[in-house]
Amino acid sequence: MFVNYRRVEGEERKEWPLSERGSASGGLQGRAALVTGASSGLGRAVAVALAEAGADVALVARSEQDLRETEELVFRTGRRALALPTDLASASETQAAVERTVEAFGRVDVLVNVAGTDAPGPVVDLEVEGWDRTLSVNLRAPFLLSKAAFARMREAGGGTIVNVSSVAGKKGWANASAYCASKFGLTGLTEALADEGRPHGIRAIVIYPGAMATNWGAFSPEERGESEVEQTSPTMALPPSSVADFIAWFASSPREFVLTEGIIVPIGEGLP
Ligand SMILES: NC(=O)c1ccc[n+]([C@@H]2O[C@H](COP(=O)([O-])OP(=O)(O)OC[C@H]3O[C@@H](n4cnc5c(N)ncnc54)[C@H](OP(=O)(O)O)[C@@H]3O)[C@@H](O)[C@H]2O)c1
Repeated sequence: MFVNYRRVEGEERKEWPLSERGSASGGLQGRAALVTGASSGLGRAVAVALAEAGADVALVARSEQDLRETEELVFRTGRRALALPTDLASASETQAAVERTVEAFGRVDVLVNVAGTDAPGPVVDLEVEGWDRTLSVNLRAPFLLSKAAFARMREAGGGTIVNVSSVAGKKGWANASAYCASKFGLTGLTEALADEGRPHGIRAIVIYPGAMATNWGAFSPEERGESEVEQTSPTMALPPSSVADFIAWFASSPREFVLTEGIIVPIGEGLP
């Protein structure tokens, strides 16, 4: 094990051991993660990828039934899973999730904010309720979870926060004002977290996916139950597992390795 000593402008900075491996395979043994949006699509794939990398995983979303299915997938990897049915539009429910993860697993090393929603429509027709709900789930919840997890990661000497934005966090478009505003906001939150986290070995990254083959567009568990994932070529819509593998790889990479953002689109989609 190597030890890193950093001095910035004469001030002695915290030292932390450099990790020795960067592969997702087994790189998170003994670690615990919390994943939102774990009932479906990308969040479910991230939960499984982190478990395959060795982490125990707390699973957050509204649908208990769908979380139980993800739990089963995590159990099959041999890791522990904890379903935490939570409405991320509720601040009090959201705040409890990190403590419940720490109660169950003793720690939280990785936080992946995947859950997202939208209130589509032109600005002139958008109700305040839709704006507030979208901002609460997509931006306030990542803030609340990061705030609680950051404190635990700082005590533990490090951690990784991954915020899932969208190409709509790089370029605004019509009929998606609340969604775009929330995703642009995630960039500011992530950059601030990365800056505050650096002295404590805490990394934060925002990723901007393009199209993925998920249930996106069914904005409730009921609608999701009725919708089918469109069978699209991976060159037009990425399988969520490929984005999840990237997230698990980053979470498993050495903590001295910093990457603050990444645009991930299928090769058939233009860049934002
Ligand atoms: N699919 C794409 O093309 C695409 C492209 C760019 C970015 N993204 C982003 O990728 C992320 C994942 O979306 P997806 O594609 O995997 O879609 P998805 O299959 O519809 O998953 C959305 C997830 O968000 C959760 N969620 C929504 N509202 C919630 C709430 N109030 N409280 C708790 N959880 C809530 C859902 O769980 P419950 O319904 O069970 O609560 C579900 O697990 C989102 O942030 C989205 O913005 C998707």
